[in-house]
Formats: sequence, C-alpha cells, structure tokens
Amino acid sequence: MTASDNGVVHLADYRAPAWRVEQVELEFDLDISATRVLARLHLRRGAGAAQPLRLDGAGQELHAIRLDGRALEPHEYQLDAQSLTVFAVDDGAVLETEAGLAPDANSALSGLYLSGSAGAGFLLTQCEAEGFRRITWYPDRPDVLARFRVLLRADRQRFPVLLANGNPAGSGELEDGRHWAAWDDPHPKPSYLFALVAGRLEQIEQDYTTADGRAVKLRIFAEADAIDRCGYAMDALVRAMRWDEQRYGRNYDLDVFHIVATHDFNMGAMENKGLNIFNAKYLLADPQRSSDEDYAHVEAIVAHEYFHNWTGNRVTCRDWFQLSLKEGLTVYREQQFSAEMNSATLKRIEDVQVLRRAQFTEDAGPLAHAVRPERYSAIDNFYTATVYDKGAELVRMIAGRLGETAWRRGMDEYFRRHDGEAATVEQFLAALGDANGVDLSAYLAWYAQAGTPQLQARGTYDAAARRYRLDLRQRTAPTPGQARKQALPIPLRVALLGADGRALPLRREAGAAPQDECVVELDAASRCFEFVDIDAPRVASLLRGFSAPVQLSTDQGADDLAFLLRFESDGFNRWEAAQQLARRAFERVLGGAQNVPELDIWCDTLAGLFDDAALDPALLAELLTPPELNELAQPCTPLDPAAVFAARERLEQALAQRLGAALEQRHAALLKTERGGLDGAARGRRRLLNRCLRLWLRQDPAQAQEIAATRYVLAASMSERLAALAGLLADGAESGEKALQDFERRYDNDPVTLDKWFALQATIPRPDTVERVAGLLRHARFSLRNPNRVSALLMGFAARNPLAFHRPDGAGYVLIEQALAEIDSLNPTTAARLATALKDWARLEPGRRALLQAALQRLAAGARSQDLADILRRTLGD
Ligand code: ARG
Ligand code: ZN
Repeated sequence: MTASDNGVVHLADYRAPAWRVEQVELEFDLDISATRVLARLHLRRGAGAAQPLRLDGAGQELHAIRLDGRALEPHEYQLDAQSLTVFAVDDGAVLETEAGLAPDANSALSGLYLSGSAGAGFLLTQCEAEGFRRITWYPDRPDVLARFRVLLRADRQRFPVLLANGNPAGSGELEDGRHWAAWDDPHPKPSYLFALVAGRLEQIEQDYTTADGRAVKLRIFAEADAIDRCGYAMDALVRAMRWDEQRYGRNYDLDVFHIVATHDFNMGAMENKGLNIFNAKYLLADPQRSSDEDYAHVEAIVAHEYFHNWTGNRVTCRDWFQLSLKEGLTVYREQQFSAEMNSATLKRIEDVQVLRRAQFTEDAGPLAHAVRPERYSAIDNFYTATVYDKGAELVRMIAGRLGETAWRRGMDEYFRRHDGEAATVEQFLAALGDANGVDLSAYLAWYAQAGTPQLQARGTYDAAARRYRLDLRQRTAPTPGQARKQALPIPLRVALLGADGRALPLRREAGAAPQDECVVELDAASRCFEFVDIDAPRVASLLRGFSAPVQLSTDQGADDLAFLLRFESDGFNRWEAAQQLARRAFERVLGGAQNVPELDIWCDTLAGLFDDAALDPALLAELLTPPELNELAQPCTPLDPAAVFAARERLEQALAQRLGAALEQRHAALLKTERGGLDGAARGRRRLLNRCLRLWLRQDPAQAQEIAATRYVLAASMSERLAALAGLLADGAESGEKALQDFERRYDNDPVTLDKWFALQATIPRPDTVERVAGLLRHARFSLRNPNRVSALLMGFAARNPLAFHRPDGAGYVLIEQALAEIDSLNPTTAARLATALKDWARLEPGRRALLQAALQRLAAGARSQDLADILRRTLGD
C-alpha cells in the first residue's frame, strides 16, 4: 500500500505487493534495554514490473545489511524514518538486516516492549496493525504471507520462558548462563500476527484432542501472582475450541496453543498465531475479585481470539480496509458462542446495548465512517465500534438472510476458497452467495455506507378486506465525506399479535402456508408489504431480535408499547418495548412536561411485571433499566448533559416510587438466597438483586444505604460488592467513602481490581468528581503510561460520567486536555482512543460547546502523534 499525500491511504490505490517474502528467519538476542534482531528475508518478486525492494521500518537502528551474504555499500540502499529501500534485488535473493531496539523505552506498546518493571517485568510484542515494522524492516502489510522461523536467545535466569508463534522446534543452553528456544510456524502468515514473549512467567496446562485427532497442549502463562486466576479462561478456551469444531467444522492446527496475560496492553487481546496475548483484565477471573461482567468478558474474548485462528489467521485480510472481514465476522461468531453458552435473549440485549451506546453514537457524529472505509491516515484509529460491532451486525443480517444451513455451507466455501489467502469483503460475499446460488452483492452497500439508517414503519389494517399493510421507508442522514446515501437492503422480522398477545398466522398471499413470524426485506427507499386473511391484529411486533442495525420509528402509541412489554414472546422485542416507552417518557420529561402519561404507563406496566414469578430475573432487571445517559442524549441538540441527567433521574425516581414496598421485599428475598454462585441462574438473580438495590436507594435512602453498607462488607461476590459501593457513592453517603478506603486496602496489589476502584470513582455522578479525578491523577498507583489505568480513570470520567465531565465551568474538559497532551507523547493509540470521548462537542449547548471546542483546538495545535492528530482533525471537521 502506498501512502499518498500527507499519509492518507486510499482503498482505490491498492496494488498487489511488488515483493513477497517466502520465508523469514528471525534471531533475537533479547535484553530489556538493548535487543538485537537479525532478520533473513527470502524474497520473491511479485507481479508487475521490477521495482526496488521497499521495506517498512520505524524506530530501530540499522547495524548491518547484507544481500545474498554480501555487505551492502551505502549507495546500494536508502534508509529513512519509515523505510529501507534496496535498489538492485534479484528474484530469490536473501536480504539480511541487523537491528537494535530498546524495548524498555517503548512506551507506545507497539512492537517489542516491556511489561511491568525493568527488574521483574517481561518482554512481549504487539504487531497489529503496524507494529512489526518497529521490530525489523519488512513489507509490513497483511497480504504478504510468509513462513516464520524464530530463534530466541536470552539470559536463562532473567528470561526462563521464551515463546513465539507456531510449534516448538528445539531449545538448549548457551554460554554465560544464556539459553535458546526455536519456534517454527508452518502456516504462512502476515507480519501483524507475529509475536514473541520472554520472561519469568508461570503456566497452567491442559491436554486437548481436536475432532480430527490432533493432540494439542493448551497453556496459559501469567506472572506468579496471577496464575491462579487463569482457570476460567482455560475452561472457556476448551469450550470455544469444541464449539468451533461443532458449529463450523474448524479444527485447531498446531501442536500447542498459548495464551499470555499482561497488564500493559493497548487493546483487549491479540490473536497472534498460536500465541494469543491478552490484556489481563480480559483473562484473569476469580470468584472473589471478578464481577459477573468480567466472567462474561473473559469467556467472550478468549473465544473471540481463538475464533480468529480461522477467521483472521487462516483467511486473513488483503489490506486494512478489509479489517471488518476478520473483526466483524469474528465478533459475530463470538456472539453466537456466548448466546449458546448463556441466555440468547440477554446476549442479544447486551449486543444491541453496545451497538447503540458505542456504534450509533459514532455513526451519528464527526467520526462516522463506513464498516469498510475508503481512506485512513492512522489505521489504529479504525479499530472501532463500527468496524467491530456494526460489522458483526452485517454478518448477522447476511447469516439470517441465508438461514442456518446455507450460512454453514457458505462459510465452508469461504474457507475452502480462501484458506491461506488474504481476502476481501467482495470475496466473502461471493463465496457465501455462490455456495447457495444467491446474489449477496447488494449487501456490499452496507459495508461502504456510513450512518445508521432511519427506518419508518406505518401499519394499517383494512378490517373489511382483512388485510394488514405495512409501509416502510428508509433514510440515512449524510455523514462526513458522504453526502449522498443510497437505499440498503433491510431485513425486518415481523409478527402481528392479536388481542390475547398471541402471534396471528401470517400470509403474504392467499392460500400460502401461514407463519407466526416472517421476514420482509426492504430493498428500496420505500415499499409496502401486505398480509392477507388477518383477523383483528392488536399490535405489530417489528424488527424482532433487532434484525437490522437501524433506528426504527413507528406510529405505535404508548399503550401499544405497553402491550408489547406485557405480551411479546420475542424476549428482545419485549425489552425493546420497555426501552422505547422509557425513551418517550424521557423526552416528555426533558421537554418540561409536568404530567407525563408515558411515564405512568412505563411505571405501571413494569410494576405489573415485577411480581411475575415466571419472568427471568435477569430479563426483569434489564426491563427495569431505562436507556443509559449517552443513548438518551444522542438525539438531543443542543445538548445539556445536566438536563439529560436530571430527566433520567426523574424516570428512576418515578419507577422506584411506583414499585413501592415490593422493591424492598424483592431485594430481601433475593438477598436471602445470594451465595455468590457463578452459574447463569445465580448471576441472573444477582443482576436483579443489584438493580433492586439501586432503585430502593432512591426510594428510601436512609434504610437502603444502611443495607448497602452492610452488603459492601459481607458481599459474597465482586458484583455484589461493586453494586453496593457504586450505589453508596452515587448517593454521596459517608459510608461510601469508608468502603472506598477499604477497597483500596484490599486490592492495592492487584492492578486489575484496583482499576475498578479508579473507575468507580471516575463515574460518580456528581459535579465534584472533577476534583476527585484530578486528585487521583496524582495517586501513587496512577500512571499515564498504563492504558488500563487511563481507561479506568480518564475514559471512565470522559465517556461515562457526563454530569461531571460536562460541568458547565469546563473544568472537566481542561482536565482531559492536559492528560491527553501528556499521553500523546507516550502512547498515541491510547491518546487517540481517549480523544474520541470528545467527539460530541458540536452538539452541546453554546456555553459548553465553546469551552470544549477551544480545548480541542489547543490540543490539535499541539498534537504530536499522527493518531491523535487524525482524531482531532476529524472531530473538529477540518
Ligand atoms: N485483532 C485484535 C482483536 O480484535 C485487536 C488488535 C488491535 N490492535 C491495535 N493496535 N489496533 O482481537
Ligand atoms: Zn478481533
């Protein structure tokens, strides 16, 4: 990929590589502050006219360069800050370079770096997307697939464990207390999947036999104080491996599968071939220290990275524009897996919550981009909710369009055609379609077009003709750089419910076999669909299961939504009815209405369901929760975050009052059986327990606070402890401060759990949290160098605490501005991610808007990294 003007890369400029690497041999002499890397590249000329060999490189020192064993003269190559060009290279030539690196000086955590302290930490790599070039000179692009052989040498005492991709290929002793280990990866791979790990690590191990009979050693590595928290991840890994065999016929393909945990990581985890590396917060789990949410994350992310072995590694991406080809697809597979391991309805609700909170807001703002963008200037900024979560929705729509059997047939064909290749979204759609004799190319528009489609639905019933008519209309608002939008294929799952709440038999034409539900596909700007022989429909249930990532508006009234909330059999849509009802109540309250019938209907309907013993407690907990602040704020312009907060509070107040004494009773009943159990049923009851406490705190603060303080101390699980503490802190209770001190004492030495302590405080919904966060920035355990700390304290504050962050005096903005300027010079990826929390400045009411805009402009003027500069430039709309 050639970067054209000012570093912007365009999809349309893609050219096949001029040079390929058949095999690469890497030799590392590892050291915390001075590592040497010898790289031997076996080169092959690519298609097209002969070109000089241009390799990517960044930050390393060149100690030697040889072509076919001969040292090159200075005029035979050219070295600059981003590349190494060798002028006269023959097909089949072998290029050797020797590089010097300083891992302990690498604060960007991209390339080879140090996790932990120089004395006790370990060395590891992160190469996706463009970190490999910080290790050695190489065609660092995903369509160059090479066989990797790696030799690691290091001091045995300091680095007893030496890991790289692939299968072990020998180890032994060297002089001076050094030792070596060789690794051989038989599967050709792009450089972004390279990894090594070296240091003092403990391990757990398990044997696994694949469905096709391969014996595999599964090992998880972590530092000594964390190794006893890796068991759940191992359990999840084994389940994920079985699941991929059963559901997709995909077997693992090496003799070992290794996972390593680190506290210093820019992202969640990384799928390096045979050597996954995990952010410790998504790998470690234990009953005392991990919340139910943590367990769910570990399960999902272990599965996600494992599933990449086929969707990402065996079939990789031609270029970074195709990132969603592996990420959207793998998120979808991960969602399927989690849904089958747990409650499918709850999982769908959570997926849609993530989509709305992160992706819809992204798609509606200045950073909106297509699932497959057309240009980028900093690829690390495209690991977004759009590429991941909207990408997964697109795969879900396509899978739904095909149906289960055809989806599997299509995926088999995709693997058959592209195993060992670097593919494109077009090739994915073609394989799925060809395998089933259908044309899926219309879905390509979903990949190319940014913005969330607005879908309008109107239903009319003709009693005389017994026909139900559904009018659908779609529209997508312009997004930056994409003024004109086209109509997209939108599948809508539909049912019609009768007065008793049961689904009416649906027929598209007379005499057809009736169905309880059907899927209509809107394939134009507007269309109408008719159902015949319909008797007395009470209400339509639309977009069941959230069958397309759109924003639906209907002509249904609050009483229709209440009916759906009571009777709908599609669990997702039942929850959705509660959300819509709450949203309408919220809008009226925000608009200043004193008397809000929607609020009464919402409260009354939920009160009716509250005593329904047949209702899944986890689903009830979700029904009782209105959309969160960022979701509610999304359509508000001009936006006053304090007013949004107050209106949502009024909803919570009203619901708490309406539930009355039942709240305390339910809380007490659930508490009686609470033992901290980890099975799905126990987790579901705990979700409701915690939700009841939160509401009860609003109804009867004095008594509820007392119970919450006790529950903090006696908690049988971390979820219970966190819920009690968060409730006390939101209330400003004195006992909350005491509990905080206790929490800090308990978990001072455990980074993952201490992050919860930082995050809890960062999200206290009170204006004076600004001063609290400022104080925590100076806490001995805080460091701007650690992405998890930054995320807990600063991302928690800027993205999840609108009341404090948007304090009208702008103090929250200044705090983030100052931190960002510092983080920018340490870790561009982390700086850029934090900066995305400022994206909504233009929608704010004029006072806050001016303050935040000024902060953004100051930051843009001083930005050092390409990553941060890119986010700020797009955020400001220049
Ligand atoms: N491929 C990884 C995952 O989704 C994410 C790595 C992203 N890294 C980055 N520096 N942007 O599983
Ligand atoms: Zn991924």
